[in-house]
Amino acid sequence: MDALEAIMTRRSIRSYQDRPVSEEDLEKLLRAAMAAPSARNEQPWHFVVARDPAVKDRVPDYHPYASCVRQAPLAVLVCADLEEESHRDYWEQNCAAAVENLLVAARSLGLGTVWLGVSPAGGKGGRHARALLPA
Ligand SMILES: Cc1cc2nc3c(=O)[nH]c(=O)nc-3n(C[C@H](O)[C@H](O)[C@H](O)COP(=O)(O)O)c2cc1C
Repeated sequence: MDALEAIMTRRSIRSYQDRPVSEEDLEKLLRAAMAAPSARNEQPWHFVVARDPAVKDRVPDYHPYASCVRQAPLAVLVCADLEEESHRDYWEQNCAAAVENLLVAARSLGLGTVWLGVSPAGGKGGRHARALLPA
């Protein structure tokens, strides 16, 4: 599948088959995410791969629209590292570019994904996520 087809046929998938994502595919997904452009090429991101139900299944506890995570074989939590950004100005755009790359790559590998957004600026997801942060 070429890039244009993957982009045009990607859809949010919230129900998953009961089969694991291979290590090979996972590495491709993470490499695709890390190939995204970033401001000043600072790449201020970390990717936390959650397969362990003890970690993965807690996401809906703080994200009200993420119940599908419990059924998914894995979740990738995309985290901005503000220490890696010299001006702390583009981390949301940088991480968004990485997420979209990952989603399109997953589509090209025949894997279903959905973007579950958490906004520090507001919205229910943001409020719940902020509750996890240290005061
Ligand atoms: C920033 C962002 C946040 C999103 N958050 C959620 C979410 O919390 N839960 C969810 O089920 N879908 C979420 N989505 C997926 C959108 O609902 C979905 O992309 C949109 O309805 C268009 O459908 P499509 O992805 O199939 O084209 C989010 C998408 C984006 C870009």
